[in-house]
Amino acid sequence: MAFLSNLAIHISKNPQIFPNFNYHPSNSIVVSQNFPICGHGFQSLRLGVADRSLRELSAIGSPSQAEAFADSTVLSDVPVLTSAEAIERLQTKRESWKGKQQFLAMYSSIFGGIITDPSAMVIPMDDHIIHRGHGVFDTAAIFDGHLYELDQHLDRFLKSASMAKIKIPFDRESIRRILIQTVAVSKCTKGSLRYWLSAGPGDFQLSPSGCHEPSLYAIVIHDESPFVRKGVKVITSSISIKPPQFATMKSVNYLPNVLSKMEAEENGGFAAIWLDMDGFIAEGPNMNVAFVTVEKELLMPHFDKILSGCTAKRVLTLAEKLVKEGKLRGIRVGDVSVEEGKKAIEMMLIGSGVLVRPVVQWDEQVIGDGKEGPVAQALLQLIQDDMKSGPPSVRVPRFGRLNLEVGRKL
Ligand SMILES: Cc1ncc(COP(=O)(O)O)c(C=O)c1O
Repeated sequence: MAFLSNLAIHISKNPQIFPNFNYHPSNSIVVSQNFPICGHGFQSLRLGVADRSLRELSAIGSPSQAEAFADSTVLSDVPVLTSAEAIERLQTKRESWKGKQQFLAMYSSIFGGIITDPSAMVIPMDDHIIHRGHGVFDTAAIFDGHLYELDQHLDRFLKSASMAKIKIPFDRESIRRILIQTVAVSKCTKGSLRYWLSAGPGDFQLSPSGCHEPSLYAIVIHDESPFVRKGVKVITSSISIKPPQFATMKSVNYLPNVLSKMEAEENGGFAAIWLDMDGFIAEGPNMNVAFVTVEKELLMPHFDKILSGCTAKRVLTLAEKLVKEGKLRGIRVGDVSVEEGKKAIEMMLIGSGVLVRPVVQWDEQVIGDGKEGPVAQALLQLIQDDMKSGPPSVRVPRFGRLNLEVGRKL
């Protein structure tokens, strides 16, 4: 900690700070050289600890009491950094975190612009999205340089914001333009766009009334991972499902979803399936679920108590082709009992992250013949084709030839 030793001094060298405190060599209390009593500017990170320690130590009478207290109040050796030093450290840290995904561009309404340095990907700690979960989010897949179902996701995003009583900082069209421009700047051809709306920064109260303005954040994530066709095992989740008011809104409160996913992984599964409060099949932690009945009907739980999945809705439309081809007898959205689900000849997970993923086993029940079913495979193919060459209503280009000067004026 060479850097720190430049910043800190032992109190013995400043006896005027602690008139009642006898320095003992074993005490390693340090205070910032910038402490106000020394007449210098003060750096906030140390203020709380140093200020409290000094006040408390001054109030202690005997040296032995002070020694005991001092041992338990050794100040940490965390350095106090300038903004430039903090940014440098963020960059170094980021370089050491190599993952499968690359973060190519980020927009923040706080600084009103797009950045491409992932180390500057920051959200203020006083933003209500951080400490109160008062935020909503959504995603859109990027495929072949196009945003898939951007408008459908954007509609759901704004509906979630309204349900969460979050005002939008710009109108829909401006938000849409910012999102597309962020993808254009990123030059991403495959991956995803994620975006958040929040009550914004302000204070640490429960009420958002002190928040200055709502914030919008977005990030473009490059990910080359292929969509997997192999069937998976799922379990029934023991984690409680969110009540409909919260399950139908895509808020940032995903703790039940995270715990549900962890429960699945701990039990050798890919996902855990929620049942609703009436015992009907609901959804997975970040995907919808569908079945093919013995009568060759595509069956999907309705969306009144769960998230209205953009992919699932698109699948319902695309599946009509399979009905025309005779591969399905019909399509039904309604209550699905566990019994009906477990005796289905096919089961599948549907969502932006998995597209269509066949399920071959649910708890101890093998689904159908235990192999990836033909309808799930056909629906996956239809969605992939739709991503590659679907109509403009589901494929929004990320205008390749963007005037970056315009970008700077955001
Ligand atoms: C709880 C939940 N259900 C369903 C879905 C599937 O929705 P979509 O197809 O729009 O990705 C998601 C996706 O994020 C989700 O989080």
